[in-house]
Amino acid sequence: MIPIHVSVMSDEVMEYLVPSRPDSLIGDGTLGEGGHSLRFLESYPECRVIGIDVDITMGQRAAERLSPWVNRFELITGWTDEVLAEWDKAPPDLVLMDLGVSTFHYDGSGRGFSFKSVEPLDMRLERDGDGDASELVNTLREEDLADLIFTYGEERFSRRIARRIVEERKQSPINDSSRLAEIVAKAIPAQSRHGRIHAATRTFQALRIAVNGELDRLSRLLDTAPGLLAPGGRLGIISFHSLEDRLVKRAFRGLDVRFGGTYNVLTRKPLVPTEKECRSNPPSRSAKFRVIENMSSEAIL
Ligand SMILES: C[S@@+](CC[C@H](N)C(=O)[O-])C[C@H]1O[C@@H](n2cnc3c(N)ncnc32)[C@H](O)[C@@H]1O
Repeated sequence: MIPIHVSVMSDEVMEYLVPSRPDSLIGDGTLGEGGHSLRFLESYPECRVIGIDVDITMGQRAAERLSPWVNRFELITGWTDEVLAEWDKAPPDLVLMDLGVSTFHYDGSGRGFSFKSVEPLDMRLERDGDGDASELVNTLREEDLADLIFTYGEERFSRRIARRIVEERKQSPINDSSRLAEIVAKAIPAQSRHGRIHAATRTFQALRIAVNGELDRLSRLLDTAPGLLAPGGRLGIISFHSLEDRLVKRAFRGLDVRFGGTYNVLTRKPLVPTEKECRSNPPSRSAKFRVIENMSSEAIL
């Protein structure tokens, strides 16, 4: 059985994302298996939750888990930045984004997110989306592949990795995750191969970000979501690497400037998981949680 995703920084989310009214509307923009939504629904018996996830399988898993609250829970399948750009529902009081992918993606999706298993190199969250990871790995020019791995993976051996990938794909296309992991590991100098994280972690992260356009989507979401918040509403974002956190930090600061203090950043420094959480749920280690509040008496944009 595939283990259920353990929600990250769930206590901090509950502490900072407190509805201002009993019948609040809460947007869970990265529903996953619905762990955070479940806590909202349990804690606030009159709130309504709209959960958005682009992965149809995740939506199904969450809908099943949240079936006891079917009257107060609505599922939307789609990219959250696109859904929010066309939002025609009431302004949400709370919006949560818990970025990245779920335990299911690594352990049960069969889509090559993990370098630990032999799976087709796909990595698409949107099941019928364009361009999967094998397409990038097998068609990009060496230079572009190196840039992608450097930019999205912050991988200092990006050029060596790209060179090796291009050599290997001449023998035969690279279509599975374990072969890619081996190629990457071999490209990295032996003395740097045995760090805290697996040698292929950064390359896999880079490909996943590129395949799903994650940073562009986050930027678009940061442009839209704050303006949708109800008066007194809050937007909380949990990010998992510095590229994401930088975008969130800058956008939140920028709101202060653009809207003359209408938005209050509630987390001058990002909140991070407790040591206890890091020990009990290691994937939480890199999490950073930032929150802003709409201080105005009406929606802004
Ligand atoms: C880290 S998981 C969320 C886990 C969830 N908060 C919980 O506690 O169970 C992130 C989920 O968001 C989805 N996702 C990531 N980026 C997305 C985006 N831009 N639009 C829609 N869904 C997205 C992924 O498919 C994944 O299921």
